[in-house]
Amino acid sequence: MAHPLVPATLAFTTDGTPWSAAFGDIYHSTEGGPAQAAHVFLGGNRLPDRWRGRPRFTILETGFGLGLNFLTTWAALREDAARPGRLHYVAIEKHPFSASDLAELHARHPQFATLSRELCAQWPMLVRGMHRLELDSGRVVLTLCFGDIAEVLPQLRLAADAFYLDGFAPAKNPDMWAAPALKSLESLAARDATFATYTAASAVRDALSSAGFDVRKREGFARKRDMLCGTQTRGAAPPPSPDRRAIVIGAGLAGSAACERLAARGWDVTLIERHPAPAREASGNHAGAFHPLITRDDSFIARLSRNAFLHALRQWDSVPGIAWDRCGVLQMPRTAEESEAQRAALDALGYPNGYARWLPRAEAARVAGTEVAEGGVWFEQGGWLRPPSLVDALLAKAKVGMHFGIELASIARSASGWAAQDSTGRTIAEAPVVVLANAHDAMRLAPPANVSLRKVRGQVSYLPAARLPAIRAVVLRGGMALPAIEGLCVTGASYDPDDPDPHLRVDSHAGNLERLARILPETLDAFDPASLQGRVAFRAVAPDRLPLAGPYPGQAGLYGAFAYGSRGILWSALMAELLASQLEGEPLPLEAQLADAVDPGRFLRRAERGKG
Ligand SMILES: Cc1cc2nc3c(=O)[nH]c(=O)nc-3n(C[C@H](O)[C@H](O)[C@H](O)COP(=O)(O)OP(=O)(O)OC[C@H]3O[C@@H](n4cnc5c(N)ncnc54)[C@H](O)[C@@H]3O)c2cc1C
Ligand SMILES: C[S@@+](CC[C@H](N)C(=O)[O-])C[C@H]1O[C@@H](n2cnc3c(N)ncnc32)[C@H](O)[C@@H]1O
Repeated sequence: MAHPLVPATLAFTTDGTPWSAAFGDIYHSTEGGPAQAAHVFLGGNRLPDRWRGRPRFTILETGFGLGLNFLTTWAALREDAARPGRLHYVAIEKHPFSASDLAELHARHPQFATLSRELCAQWPMLVRGMHRLELDSGRVVLTLCFGDIAEVLPQLRLAADAFYLDGFAPAKNPDMWAAPALKSLESLAARDATFATYTAASAVRDALSSAGFDVRKREGFARKRDMLCGTQTRGAAPPPSPDRRAIVIGAGLAGSAACERLAARGWDVTLIERHPAPAREASGNHAGAFHPLITRDDSFIARLSRNAFLHALRQWDSVPGIAWDRCGVLQMPRTAEESEAQRAALDALGYPNGYARWLPRAEAARVAGTEVAEGGVWFEQGGWLRPPSLVDALLAKAKVGMHFGIELASIARSASGWAAQDSTGRTIAEAPVVVLANAHDAMRLAPPANVSLRKVRGQVSYLPAARLPAIRAVVLRGGMALPAIEGLCVTGASYDPDDPDPHLRVDSHAGNLERLARILPETLDAFDPASLQGRVAFRAVAPDRLPLAGPYPGQAGLYGAFAYGSRGILWSALMAELLASQLEGEPLPLEAQLADAVDPGRFLRRAERGKG
């Protein structure tokens, strides 16, 4: 997967129809995209009739292109009084347009002006992977999957009620219509799923028949005589609607995000926290940094961090009251090898400049606002965030029931599913679902099989900003230095595995000052470590340094959202969306491989595989 995403190039035929030079074909019939969408894709799938009165309806489109099918569908939904509670529209696209090209293309269809503006405002950066956009106050959820259909289809976890199959003509775009790709739709179909496509090619008809669809010809659009549509009767029955009650344990980044995502879906959530207020443990630092990771081979963690980073930016944009700044993050290498590896990764992956790019020293100094030892990777959209403000903002938005000052001693099966009890055996809450968002303590309440978490002490130092150069960006080089936030510069952090000391220590401050001197050499002797303020907290770290987010194997209703390690700011939004999607039976917001990589059951699965 480590190859650049190639955006589409805007071009038109002489009659003004959007044209792809790469495929030698037009994007839609010369008689008009929206009319074609209405006849072929809505009509062929018997929409809006089939979505009426449904709590949720899921469409999978192959070939998002200009998004005219999407906009036509969204517009039809808005006009339909009996529309489904939520429309999930999942679309695959190998060559996405830029937001500005899309806006230009949509300007030819003024009936979509409002919808197009909303879509283009959230349009993601053109990087590989899944991008979930919440539109129309969450009534429409668009999950864009940027990549080749052959790579993306196996990574989808969803049950589609309707398929829009919209590649270019099979003769010009054979990959899109390859039999294995069409065959794989079988496992993505919900019971009674339908499909529609512009083409009537016999190879497509045969492949869809062998994927279990009862394929029929229907009158084509405009000058096209026939099109294909059909129904699949073998698909998965819809999951029963969940009993939407949950207990969330822990009011840090993980728990507050889970509360907000569940509450947004109408869940009745009870949050239980042992401290008298939220964000008193790891999530209580003055501020921390967020940025994605890049690796030359676009490893799991690089892909997961990309998905999480872009997801978090969109979600934080929609929540008032968070103290954060996308001031940019400059990651400086520590050694010549690291520098080479970073540049090689950037060359191989061909990211857009707005995502990650190499800055030579002079430019790096300009963005950082101070002299720096050398150049580095520039994450223009990265920055800092105050975790307590995020926790507060999410809880204020979620409006869930909250119990503070109660430490849970156990969770046990009960008639309602799960009961959470304090040390006297008193039941504090009962619900069919429990989300363990209580970091290390999840291991005491319900340890997942075959894994142990490390407790890693971390101390940050809070330096008076007036005595430091006025840096404008987050700068990393082994350690981190944040710009001044309310008069303090956060720097650090120590990483002390299995060190239980909760107190501030001079040696940890001294270590943080050394880290800072790698970034800002002139600060080496500027501070006395014995006089510094700071904070100590503990990271919960899994052996593979990835979170544990998702269902416990074999324990109905028990979910994990912990082990966020050194990256809780980065992980929290996407992990919460994953959890809520799993609980609701919605399409997952991340690739199947990535969901598996954070699954709490992964260690058990690996152990069992090892035995087999
Ligand atoms: C020094 C340091 C620097 C960091 N810097 C960054 C950074 O720059 N960027 C970044 O992304 N991440 C950073 N992190 C990591 C980040 O802070 C954590 O990953 C994140 O805060 C974890 O959130 P959480 O909600 O999982 O855990 P916590 O914030 O620890 O929340 C768990 C909550 O559960 C409660 N709880 C536990 N057990 C029970 C129980 N039995 N009953 C009731 N309540 C219970 C706790 O009281 C706590 O409030 C840093 C961490 C440290 C330590
Ligand atoms: C006919 S256009 C789709 C038009 C679109 N549905 C609309 O409403 O505007 C076909 C789309 O399929 C995309 N495509 C072609 N080959 C692909 C592949 N192998 N994987 C994913 N997408 C592909 C093209 O880039 C193009 O955007």
